[in-house]
Amino acid sequence: MAGVEEDRPRPPPARKGIHILLMFLAAVLFMAFSYYLFHSNSPNSDVPSCHAANDRNPEDSTWRDSYIQLPGVSFNVEGKCDLFSGKWVCNPSGSAYTNLSCNFIETPQNCMRNGRPDTEYLYWRWKPYGCELPPFDPSKFFNAMKDKSWAFIGDSIFRNHIQSILCLLSKVETPVEIYHDETFKSRTWYFSEHNFTVAVIWSPFLVKSEISEDDKGKSASEVRLHVDVPEEKWTLQYNKYDYIIFSGGQWFLKTMVVWDNGIIVGCHNCKNRSLKELGIDYPYRKVLQSVYKFMLSSDHKPLVFFRTWTPDHFEYGEWFNGGICNRTRPYGEGQYKGKPIDPMMRNIEIKEFKKAVATNSRGGARLKLLDTFHLSLLRPDGHPGPYRTFHPFDKDKNARVQNDCLHWCLPGPIDTWNELIMKILIDEGDVSSS
Ligand SMILES: *[C@@H]1O[C@H](CO)[C@@H](O)[C@H](O)[C@H]1NC(C)=O
Ligand SMILES: *[C@@H]1O[C@H](CO)[C@@H](O)[C@H](O)[C@H]1NC(C)=O
Ligand SMILES: *[C@@H]1O[C@H](CO)[C@@H](O)[C@H](O)[C@H]1NC(C)=O
Ligand SMILES: *[C@@H]1O[C@H](CO)[C@@H](O)[C@H](O)[C@H]1NC(C)=O
Repeated sequence: MAGVEEDRPRPPPARKGIHILLMFLAAVLFMAFSYYLFHSNSPNSDVPSCHAANDRNPEDSTWRDSYIQLPGVSFNVEGKCDLFSGKWVCNPSGSAYTNLSCNFIETPQNCMRNGRPDTEYLYWRWKPYGCELPPFDPSKFFNAMKDKSWAFIGDSIFRNHIQSILCLLSKVETPVEIYHDETFKSRTWYFSEHNFTVAVIWSPFLVKSEISEDDKGKSASEVRLHVDVPEEKWTLQYNKYDYIIFSGGQWFLKTMVVWDNGIIVGCHNCKNRSLKELGIDYPYRKVLQSVYKFMLSSDHKPLVFFRTWTPDHFEYGEWFNGGICNRTRPYGEGQYKGKPIDPMMRNIEIKEFKKAVATNSRGGARLKLLDTFHLSLLRPDGHPGPYRTFHPFDKDKNARVQNDCLHWCLPGPIDTWNELIMKILIDEGDVSSS
């Protein structure tokens, strides 16, 4: 106990205190003056101040420390730069593209055009603690990706993500869409100058699933999920792609009857009391296992990224009962830890990823983690909120509109995911750093 007392800083003698105070005031004045000079000369005086979030102790590690203690999760691998552990810092140059320079932004994510009034969310970049994350360089990317193809396999978050990569790449070459399904959920784009293909494949459960119907043919809300059968939509074309990125997502929160090996093993959230409640973790774990099993036993060896769980930021309610997300700047480290489901799902993902890597130890597929969870968690300001539709408050200032606090505005924080991919590809030697 005595030791703890000893560690406390001693109050300085009074005169010294005044001296320090004066020095502090002088420093504040100097900083205010420089700030004034900088900003009055700056051609872009709209650039918002990003200071408050940076005033925190930059190495504040409370959140990290509590996180490291979670089983199976480690953030720092012997002094190596961990891309996924860092903070959002002010980026006065703003986003790499705008709603004017990119034609691939779909209405629900086109926050600028839809009239979102604040812009500070565009002025942040991700700074990993041990290194720098370079901006996405489309020329370098194309140089490495000649004759190559990518597939993004999962739910609407990938439709969101792929718009970002199309925007970033279209600075160098505009692609043409060469395929879409009836619902425009699966789509493929082709960059002819670089013979580069990028596809998004709609497979929100990654495994075979059916929407069950009741006697009158109306679809019931529950899903029949076959956890041991990876969905053919992506498995049949798996061999076509040099790079694969996949993820699970919020669809796993649905009511579902779980099938394994041809029989019902239980259920999540069903009203049918005769079925065993499995929770969410069981089906999710099983699905990831069967996806890895498919990938690791395939003769085709693409580079496979697994992207971690995307947190939502609904506050004052959920998506279905008036939840909103009206914050305009990132959280500081430790300010928000997510809803209970968030670390739970990510933990399953990390465990299954590590197991897959261990199983794969004799080589074969290259498995990479794209752990966007933490950096995304800190960006409550990155979602469309009410601005998922065109000027939602033009007719009625107090209109009650459905908010989207799950998908991301474009441009926005999701662009960082592509910077991370680029950095990983450079580190892997797939993309040249010069
Ligand atoms: C882009 O957003 C601005 C508002 O920030 C809007 O005035 C403009 O019409 C938008 N343009 C396009 C092409 O979306
Ligand atoms: C484009 O790339 C594919 C491989 O993805 C290759 O088979 C094809 O020959 C290439 N086409 C041209 C015109 O280089
Ligand atoms: C509940 O589950 C049992 C056993 O599988 C099945 O026979 C029954 O039809 C189910 N009831 C409903 C309402 O789904
Ligand atoms: C966000 O909305 C809540 C609830 O309506 C309100 O109390 C809060 O002041 C709003 N915050 C901002 C930054 O507008």
